[in-house]
Amino acid sequence: MAVNTSTDLAALYRSDFKVFDHVTYMNTCSQGALADSVKGSFDAYLKTLELKGSAWGDWAGHQETVRDLLGKFFNVPANQIAVTTSASAGVASLASALDFTGKRNKVVTTDNEFPTIGQIWHAQEKRGAKVIHVPSKEDLTVDLSALLAAIDDETLIVSVTHVCFRNGTMTELEPIIEAAHKVGALVLVDAYQSVGAIPIDLSNLKTDFLVGGNLKYMLGAPGVGFMFARPETTGHLIPTATGWFAADNIFAMAIHSYDPAKDARRFESGTPAIPSLYPAAAGMEYVLNIGLANIAAYVAPLHDELREGISGLGYRVVTPKAPQNHAAMIAIATLDENAHVAALESEKVVVSSRDGNVRISPHFYNDREDVAKVIAAFAKTKQFIRK
Ligand SMILES: Cc1ncc(COP(=O)(O)O)c(C=O)c1O
Repeated sequence: MAVNTSTDLAALYRSDFKVFDHVTYMNTCSQGALADSVKGSFDAYLKTLELKGSAWGDWAGHQETVRDLLGKFFNVPANQIAVTTSASAGVASLASALDFTGKRNKVVTTDNEFPTIGQIWHAQEKRGAKVIHVPSKEDLTVDLSALLAAIDDETLIVSVTHVCFRNGTMTELEPIIEAAHKVGALVLVDAYQSVGAIPIDLSNLKTDFLVGGNLKYMLGAPGVGFMFARPETTGHLIPTATGWFAADNIFAMAIHSYDPAKDARRFESGTPAIPSLYPAAAGMEYVLNIGLANIAAYVAPLHDELREGISGLGYRVVTPKAPQNHAAMIAIATLDENAHVAALESEKVVVSSRDGNVRISPHFYNDREDVAKVIAAFAKTKQFIRK
């Protein structure tokens, strides 16, 4: 169905999401709400077991369906995408392909990374990697000039998160990519908290790698992640953490040689998480049908309304205000994140927390009534205000 930016997306799509019969759900940064079609896709997987017992043809086909949909999501050919079992699996495979033994051994990263990113890079210190963290600014945004200054001709890869999982801060990627490429360094973007919430066109954004997963704004389930690898700049990188699903010919069953796929599939590993491929495909079809630009344009005023209402109660909003510095998520400072989330849940408002902040993450299925309910729940829990 064609929609445009003035369309009330929740009015069109919300009835497909049963969770709203029970709670005000604004926790997409943790897990997307379950669409009826996504629920049906789990059944479709179970049906293959009931009808055929083993259905490897259907299942392998589903891996390719997911790859094709990811290609559509990012506007790149599907064979530039590895379909993995998590974002971590993609990054670990990429890290295994890098050589840290030469002069170019630096990983330049930020303090806004998800733990898995920091941990994987620090694990490479044993292999010679030198990991540099650029501290964030006081407003929690990445210090762009410090980051650019840290990128030099000893930098092997620059690893940045697009939207921070803790505070919702969004980082401008283009200058980072430009600076890295100028000195011959690679760029990895962790886009887990932005994919499905805002458009990302990898035919324009020239990052070398981009990772994410399907369970949040893409409406899928745990078990499917992905990594884009740009062939022109990454074709020389051959992972040493690998497996038979990364082989050029999976069915060669070779045990005396290593012959990885020529395309991004070389960053895959073992048997895919087949049950999760079904919801991954159904979720992406749903989101693509609405359109990423429509989703971003619809959610932006909900984000602003949450900001205005909650800060009006005396709370401190941690997420920067400028539209170029945030996506869907908005984070609020709290005195006790777990108790506050529990108190909000007793008001039937489902959100989550990290690092001393309550995280609220609207998506296209939320409406202004949900926003009003969230603000009302914050009004009832003012004992948690942290200035
Ligand atoms: C920004 C970000 N990166 C990475 C991850 C984790 O990815 P995975 O568990 O698929 O490795 C998350 C999960 O919440 C995330 O928010």
